[in-house]
Amino acid sequence: MKKTGFIFDLDGVIVDTAKYHYLAWRKLANALGFEFTEEQNEQFKGVSRKRCLEILLNIGGIQATKEQFNSWLVEKNEDYLSLIENMDESEILPDVQKVLSFLKNHNMPIALGSASKNARPILEKVKLMDYFDVVVDGTHVTKAKPDPEVFLIAAEQLGVHPEDCVVFEDAVAGIEAANNAGMLSIGIGEAKVLSKANFVFANFTEIDVKFINRLME
Ligand code: G6P
Ligand code: MG
Repeated sequence: MKKTGFIFDLDGVIVDTAKYHYLAWRKLANALGFEFTEEQNEQFKGVSRKRCLEILLNIGGIQATKEQFNSWLVEKNEDYLSLIENMDESEILPDVQKVLSFLKNHNMPIALGSASKNARPILEKVKLMDYFDVVVDGTHVTKAKPDPEVFLIAAEQLGVHPEDCVVFEDAVAGIEAANNAGMLSIGIGEAKVLSKANFVFANFTEIDVKFINRLME
């Protein structure tokens, strides 16, 4: 397939931060007087902080002024930051490093393509920054996944044509963004949820180096 650029989403692919995002959103929902379930949290994967708050307030049937909206955004992020404060390498998902090392050893360009504005500090906390040639995060994009912007910027910065890139994603919106960018999409999660992906694996322990080799040949 001769793939020469490899782009990774962060939350739910490299680290399981989805649980911390969930806890922080649930805390806000509870403070506003309603429940927020893990199932509802599925819709938040790959979605910007601002859009998540809009969905949350919609679930709770709450109207907010601009000031309230902005202060709840800050509150959620502060809670999230305190939850991830002590995060370390032990929170890297299984075999992520195996795949990153394999690609690095073969001199493949590697990018991060995440909607999170907290991506850089998280990569630093889990000590994976050195694997990435390029980091494109929520501070660089104007259009959210499923818009392909984040991945197209990553490809451009890597100097690789979009059609020569592979994207690893756990969110439905992320798989759609990769497909919209004309890239090969690899879903990490459940096949029935990520049905639009070109390939799906439950996690990186299921991806052997032979598969990665085939992508590069
Ligand atoms: C990722 C997560 C989303 C999160 C978004 C923004 O895409 O999957 O759940 O809302 O990043 O994250 P941030 O760290 O900027 O609030
Ligand atoms: Mg994700």
